[in-house]
Amino acid sequence: MTLQLTGTTALVTGASSGLGTAYATEFARRGADVVLVARREDRLRELADRLSSRYGVTATVIPADLAAAGAAAKLRADVEARGIHVHALVNNAGFGLHDAFLEADAERTAEMIDLNVNALVALTREFLPAMVAAGTGIVVNIASTGAFSPCPTMAVYGATKAFVLSFTEALAYEVHPKGVQVLAVCPGATATEFREVSGLHAERMTPDGSQTPDQVIATTFRALDGGKVGSVTSGGRNKLLQGLTRLAPRRTATAMAARILS
Ligand SMILES: NC(=O)c1ccc[n+]([C@@H]2O[C@H](COP(=O)([O-])OP(=O)(O)OC[C@H]3O[C@@H](n4cnc5c(N)ncnc54)[C@H](OP(=O)(O)O)[C@@H]3O)[C@@H](O)[C@H]2O)c1
Repeated sequence: MTLQLTGTTALVTGASSGLGTAYATEFARRGADVVLVARREDRLRELADRLSSRYGVTATVIPADLAAAGAAAKLRADVEARGIHVHALVNNAGFGLHDAFLEADAERTAEMIDLNVNALVALTREFLPAMVAAGTGIVVNIASTGAFSPCPTMAVYGATKAFVLSFTEALAYEVHPKGVQVLAVCPGATATEFREVSGLHAERMTPDGSQTPDQVIATTFRALDGGKVGSVTSGGRNKLLQGLTRLAPRRTATAMAARILS
């Protein structure tokens, strides 16, 4: 089955780059209007122009710093004021920090929790009630393979993604009977600006082993089209890693992650 998205609207956070740009593009390609959110307005406008001219959809740009206090409520108010009903919410905006916990900047660490965790929960809380009321909707939350085990040198990042995975799987269970499809996506290394932003220089996470954003989007939409709820992991190698992590003692899994991130 292919999801029918024509006439619906998808709101994608972090649409100015990487996976967010790719999610917005796929929703538009399938006929959905899109609301594009991130801080870099110039990039969002370029994408909006491209999507509306290529696919004939309405692309609305709302620049926002989602790590700021009250950002989620403000975004819903902005969206409502434009008369838009959000059918699909993609909580994709996020970043990592690759450093020993005590070496990482404390403010950036707090900002990461604000964005990866607090904004994701707040946005879900803002937009989910209307989906439940309509008896239909989609929430896609971007987790990571970093959610599968503790991540030495990315300790807080891994913990934010473990939160996203656990929260999303529980929420999926709660709201599936109400007609809303909730899915966590766990990508592994993917060729985006993520490595640069997070200062990730791990040799074992070479671009050769990375997926492309389009591969992650294809995994996501295969799962959505198939009616899957809960979570999905992108890529064979990442699924293998997930399986090994489940089987290994926690301490061994932690050591494996430390090796991958070293
Ligand atoms: N790439 C990977 O290897 C990988 C692996 C697993 C999971 N992920 C997850 O995938 C998601 C997307 O990351 P990506 O790989 O596409 O990285 P990316 O290319 O760096 O994109 C991150 C996006 O988040 C936005 N963003 C950052 N801070 C923001 C803020 N305060 N307010 C609003 N938007 C903000 C950025 O836009 P602005 O800078 O314009 O605000 C950008 O659009 C993240 O949640 C990441 O943790 C990535």
